[in-house]
Amino acid sequence: MNQRVVIFDTTLRDGEQSPGCSMTVPEKLRMARKLVELGVDIMEAGFPIASQGDFDAVQAVSREYPDVRVAALCRSNKMDVERAGEALAYAKKPVIHTFIATSDIHLKFKLKKSRQEVLEAAVKAIELARTYADDVEFSAEDASRTDPDFLEEITLAVVNAGASTVNLPDTVGYSIPDEYAALIRRMVKAVDDRAIISVHCHDDLGLAVANSLAAVQAGARQIECTINGIGERAGNCSLEEIVMAMHTRRDKLPYTTGINAEHIYAASRLLTSIITFGPQPNKAIVGDNAFAHEAGIHQDGYLKEKSTYEIIDPKTVGVPESKLVLGKHSGRHALKQRCSDLGYELTKEELDVVYHGFTELADRVKGVRNDAIIELVKGSMAKAAIAE
Ligand code: KIV
Ligand code: ZN
Repeated sequence: MNQRVVIFDTTLRDGEQSPGCSMTVPEKLRMARKLVELGVDIMEAGFPIASQGDFDAVQAVSREYPDVRVAALCRSNKMDVERAGEALAYAKKPVIHTFIATSDIHLKFKLKKSRQEVLEAAVKAIELARTYADDVEFSAEDASRTDPDFLEEITLAVVNAGASTVNLPDTVGYSIPDEYAALIRRMVKAVDDRAIISVHCHDDLGLAVANSLAAVQAGARQIECTINGIGERAGNCSLEEIVMAMHTRRDKLPYTTGINAEHIYAASRLLTSIITFGPQPNKAIVGDNAFAHEAGIHQDGYLKEKSTYEIIDPKTVGVPESKLVLGKHSGRHALKQRCSDLGYELTKEELDVVYHGFTELADRVKGVRNDAIIELVKGSMAKAAIAE
């Protein structure tokens, strides 16, 4: 089986539609440029029927970046599909992405439609979308809570109608890895090589990346994800986490993507500067602490050999350097290194004095700054001069 996994980035659509993340057209264009450098295969630029801004964003992004596949989202009805088609009119590589909910819970309470009605709407939307684009994706919203027999029926029906990708979202982040993998395996077998099975996982239980990986191991070949994991509620599968999981654990996950990992950190920072929040400090790969070491034992090991406590060289993802944070758990080795970085080569005796002052200070403050260390070094030197 082909091991290349398509990275479908939905930062500008699912990400953008979550609280604090809305973006103007110029902001989407700036972000799109970074996504192109990053090497995503598909950028979902908006939901054209939702607003004029989203329509304009899809149009602008697809005009500006003709060499990348640009997707527009639409519900499975005529007006939505036509609007998506119009927004992509100038695209060289348009992708029309239609969706409709398929779980009984959504059919009963939200759509008030029967399974047959949903199936017919899905097929009609794909047929119409194919009049605008060859590359058409269907998403069965809430797929993970859908009766698998019905999911297989609708999956085959949309593939017969011309969908080249069928996305099976874990819309509410409810699934667990082996369960989701089993569902994906069944659908991959059903469509064989007639379409790509895609996954789109939300992080309500913190399992979006794990579920997406399990799905790839079960045969999915497209992952929908976002920078910093932004998206509805708890967010989407984080692009940086899933890509680096496959990169770092090639031994167990022998899949490839087109991502240029060295642009990951810059993409994360750019997004942070555009929306209203950044990743939490302990966020994998791009958080402030992702490559920071404070505990003395860790710092000592790291200074002897980085791989003792780092599984990724920060430069691989474009992070300038690892940080040794000097706090109350730090040891002499890291303090000596920091003094040396600051231009002070200390003897063992001088280091003892500085270390003593440092531990007293570190007990009182959360992290000791460089200027405080310099003060301690100068103080110890002054003491040494008086003693002489
Ligand atoms: O979460 C979801 O189901 C979606 C679809 C529209 C793909 O975002
Ligand atoms: Zn979603």
